[in-house]
Amino acid sequence: MSPGLMGQLNPDHNPEFAASCYFCHAPLTEQAEVKIGARGKGQGMNQSGSHQGSSKYIKNPSFDSKLKLSGVSCPVCHLREGKVYGPPLRQGQGSRVKGQDGHNGFVEKDFFEKAEFCAACHQMDEGYELNGKVLTNTYKEWKASEYSRNNITCQKCHMPDRQHLFRGIHDPEMASKGATFELIIDKISNDKIKVRLKITNTGAGHYFPTYATPLIVIRGFMLDSKGKTIKDSIKESYIGRKISLNLEQEHFDTRIPPKGSFNFEYKNILHKDADRFIIEAKVYPDKFYNEFYKSILKEGSAYNKELIKEALKATEKSVYTLYKKKIDLKKK
Ligand code: HEC
Ligand code: HEC
Ligand code: HEC
Ligand code: HEC
Repeated sequence: MSPGLMGQLNPDHNPEFAASCYFCHAPLTEQAEVKIGARGKGQGMNQSGSHQGSSKYIKNPSFDSKLKLSGVSCPVCHLREGKVYGPPLRQGQGSRVKGQDGHNGFVEKDFFEKAEFCAACHQMDEGYELNGKVLTNTYKEWKASEYSRNNITCQKCHMPDRQHLFRGIHDPEMASKGATFELIIDKISNDKIKVRLKITNTGAGHYFPTYATPLIVIRGFMLDSKGKTIKDSIKESYIGRKISLNLEQEHFDTRIPPKGSFNFEYKNILHKDADRFIIEAKVYPDKFYNEFYKSILKEGSAYNKELIKEALKATEKSVYTLYKKKIDLKKK
């Protein structure tokens, strides 16, 4: 449970909103401060005759704040009504583990090995479309790809050898497994430059990136002999799905489908002071959140500002360079 999430929630005053987030971020009964009381389950009115509001909620006697703070932790995926569930034992490692696991045995479920297991939180239902596509569509992107046909599940890439790594766009090594960069130099003369960067999604089993929150900025520019950027030489292009902060508009969607490519072309006149040409790809894993936090800090709203400020800082620290190449331009 990160500051960015907690800073937006006020479960005592707006339990409905919190519950809509807990659905994925903290779904266990014990993780919610309040729950719907017996009366709240009834008709549209509560006892005093007013419309059902937050008053249908009562304090949750089984609330466990430590468990809440642990977010998507072991019991969220492995515990149901006091029983431990897990994937079938691996061949060979069998009965030994089962006898000693300290949970009085556990219930084996094939479901743990299926992509559908992840879909519960990484796929939105229809009805929340923006430009014809739901906001998080990872499972369906995977389903339509050759990874699904070849049974390369989410777990194969995100939980290799059953390790609970869950690495994604925040991890430079994982991201570099997703995309391959190919630099094609068409022409570099005394006065002109034309290069292309072809970025192919060779390793993500869904769009690169799959969510609307990250942004990858491709940038070409020239440096002078002192290493200063020549301002009017900068050309940029974006890979991502840019949506408005109120989630109502899609500005562009240039994400790369599995095995698809994105082409960036840099064509320019060589500036008289140009010494080097740089081409790079920078990843902003939390671009959407960064802009969202900045805007709600300005608004003076009901959010917890201290937590949001902390979250804002984290979104600035997560930026990294995924690809960078330098070409010497010194005239002979
Ligand atoms: C359908 C499941 C789902 C629901 C519902 C959901 N989230 Fe998330 N959320 C995710 C996933 C998956 C990520 C990680 C991917 C990403 O960074 O976008 C995430 C990331 C985040 C992050 C950035 C990472 C972090 O932990 O700081 C914030 C903040 C956040 N969610 C807030 C919310 C809020 C507020 C709500 C309720 C209005 C909500 N989420 C509802 C699945 C969900
Ligand atoms: C987001 C859901 C999720 C969370 C959280 C989670 N697991 Fe798992 N766990 C899985 C899935 C899915 C598998 C099966 C992976 C596979 O078969 O490739 C698994 C497999 C396992 C296995 C079997 C490993 C093996 O080698 O056979 C154990 C043990 C386990 N988890 C324990 C834990 C513990 C302990 C935690 C908390 C620290 C935890 N899990 C958190 C989803 C989760
Ligand atoms: C109970 C809901 C839930 C389930 C089930 C679940 N996830 Fe997640 N997942 C989340 C949330 C919420 C986040 C983001 C916040 C966090 O890190 O706690 C997340 C984050 C991730 C990330 C990191 C995203 C990033 O931006 O770096 C990856 C990768 C991921 N999940 C993959 C999986 C895979 C693969 C499975 C199935 C084995 C799975 N998840 C099952 C809720 C879930
Ligand atoms: C062939 C390997 C592969 C498969 C299969 C795969 N992923 Fe990924 N996934 C990646 C790579 C590589 C990244 C990092 C680059 C990126 O973000 O696209 C990633 C990133 C992510 C992220 C980070 C969020 C983001 O915006 O990029 C989430 C969440 C995620 N995957 C969930 C899933 C789920 C759920 C499935 C199954 C429906 C799945 N992945 C299948 C390789 C895979």
